[in-house]
Amino acid sequence: MKTMRFFETGDPSVLMLDEVETPTPAAGQVLLRVAGAGVNPADNGIRFGRLPIPITLPHTPGYDASGTVVSFGAGVTGLTVGDEVVGFLPMTDDGAAAEYVLAPADSLVAAPASIALSDAAGLPSVALTAWQALFEYADLQACQRIVITGAGGVVGLHAVRLAKRAGAEVIATASGRSRAAVTDAGADRVIDRTAGSAASVIDEPVDVVLNLAPLAEEEFSALTARVRDGGVVVSTTAWMATPSDEARGVRGLTVFVRSDRDQLAELVRLVDAGELRVDIAERAPLVQLPEVHARLEAGQVHGKIVVTPTA
Ligand SMILES: NC(=O)c1ccc[n+]([C@@H]2O[C@H](COP(=O)([O-])OP(=O)(O)OC[C@H]3O[C@@H](n4cnc5c(N)ncnc54)[C@H](OP(=O)(O)O)[C@@H]3O)[C@@H](O)[C@H]2O)c1
Repeated sequence: MKTMRFFETGDPSVLMLDEVETPTPAAGQVLLRVAGAGVNPADNGIRFGRLPIPITLPHTPGYDASGTVVSFGAGVTGLTVGDEVVGFLPMTDDGAAAEYVLAPADSLVAAPASIALSDAAGLPSVALTAWQALFEYADLQACQRIVITGAGGVVGLHAVRLAKRAGAEVIATASGRSRAAVTDAGADRVIDRTAGSAASVIDEPVDVVLNLAPLAEEEFSALTARVRDGGVVVSTTAWMATPSDEARGVRGLTVFVRSDRDQLAELVRLVDAGELRVDIAERAPLVQLPEVHARLEAGQVHGKIVVTPTA
């Protein structure tokens, strides 16, 4: 089978198209014919060797996968050959930037029926991140007020929709390019992040700050000062410290997304119910993955890119 992989860490040029044996599923594993592989900012961090994620070289990226069940190992139940599935695969394992991928059966759920199977690879880790940040880390409740920075990004648009659905009041920060999407996702108020400090125009205390962006330290601290006593700051930008204010009981929590089959099944249900959207900015063939990584690293990608193992 064809796979895009790297034998040494480094810039996107280390990625190369290779021909390898199609793997055989071990106990608990499923072999998928890949329909799509989601591309994420962390793919660059892993490929550069910047993230503390212990991969084995050579490594195939693409931990967000959609595809069709081809075969499975011992002990796998509830799946049938031909099932169309989606999953957030272990980041340490070879991923879906290939024609076939091995996936742990317990990471897979039925793919959304309402969107193309290849596009479904744009859902798992980003939607799980939004869900876990809001409901596990922040324990967001109806009627609470939340500020979401980076709301116009891929995680952010899911977070806005999920927070609104939970009955929260959402204040979002976005630049001009994302304003319409953030408004469409349901934000009650959108602050232009390019017009100055968002914290300076938030005049009421908030229960939660959810940061999804590379904020300057001063801005992050200023936003933390807007959180009510006993509130929480949650951030996905794990390379930056998440501020807290212990004197006021304001906690600072950094998100590390994990695979969760039940949560992913619920997110798929919400997609099919029209309550969440999987917006795909670009569909690229597998051979273009090095160029996609380079554009992502250069900040030239806005929205989700899915690669497909076509010629
Ligand atoms: N820790 C984890 O488990 C985990 C999981 C998933 C993702 N992440 C991280 O979470 C972050 C968001 O992921 P994503 O996929 O949603 O990324 P994304 O699509 O690139 O979105 C990030 C958004 O941040 C905004 N932004 C950029 N610079 C900003 C600044 N200086 N101030 C305020 N906003 C700024 C941009 O908004 P505009 O469009 O408005 O310009 C952009 O759309 C990434 O850093 C990703 O690596 C972490």
